[in-house]
Amino acid sequence: MNEPFFQVRGVVKRFGGLTAVNDVSFDVARGEIVSIIGPNGAGKTTLFNLVTGQLAPTAGEVRFDGSTINNLRPDARARLGLGRTFQIAKPLPALTALENAMVGAFLRHPKLRDAEAHAHGVLREVGLARRAGVRASQLTLSERRRLEVARALALDPALILLDEVMAGLNASEVAEAIDLFRRLNQRGLTFLIIEHNLKVVRAFSKRVIVIDRGAKIAEGNADKILAMPQVVTAYLGRRKQ
Ligand SMILES: Nc1ncnc2c1ncn2[C@@H]1O[C@H](COP(=O)(O)OP(=O)(O)OP(=O)(O)O)[C@@H](O)[C@H]1O
Ligand SMILES: [Mg+2]
Repeated sequence: MNEPFFQVRGVVKRFGGLTAVNDVSFDVARGEIVSIIGPNGAGKTTLFNLVTGQLAPTAGEVRFDGSTINNLRPDARARLGLGRTFQIAKPLPALTALENAMVGAFLRHPKLRDAEAHAHGVLREVGLARRAGVRASQLTLSERRRLEVARALALDPALILLDEVMAGLNASEVAEAIDLFRRLNQRGLTFLIIEHNLKVVRAFSKRVIVIDRGAKIAEGNADKILAMPQVVTAYLGRRKQ
């Protein structure tokens, strides 16, 4: 039997006395779009950090494309095909948008000219081609988010993890982002997204995982999950915004 493309198995992360992620397990199949939702502080970003290697789990295992990745550093995980964005965008502010995208592009395009061409392609894809020469520090919020996505795409990932990339965008910017992600998904890219905008979750993902106080409390079809009373309570009852 084929092993799932991506597996999280019994993952735990403790920070001193706080259990930020508490025995979470789930699978993602190749080509899927899965959303993770949950209130502020539920442990969603910590879970991403365990997947992409910014943090080591206290217990449990992450498997990708048939093997464990627990002992790999973030750059080795990127090489295998894991790309991510950070909730707090981390562009190199003094570098241009193009140069920022090139940092990721070098992973698979070691020659300067190839990396530049690849980075240009990615900027075009996210709608930043005309801003290629602008320093990251001069970009608008929406452009910085798109650059964050471009930096992850420049790695040519097989699975991309997006941490609230739509936050703060207006309705038409959100619609553009969804269009882009759908196009990329049709070309085979698998998505695991953390998203607070439930309209986006409903429109974009088929499967939803709900995290509350570090634990998975529900998982399944988006429409079904978003209608569950305990999800509504956990999620909407304690939201800040
Ligand atoms: N490096 C760390 N050291 C100690 N505690 C941490 C660390 N990172 C996260 N935490 C704590 O772990 C819990 C989960 O945080 P996390 O950022 O994963 O939540 P989240 O679901 O992403 O929340 P949000 O929706 O606000 O982004 C919080 O209580 C947070 O304060
Ligand atoms: Mg977070």
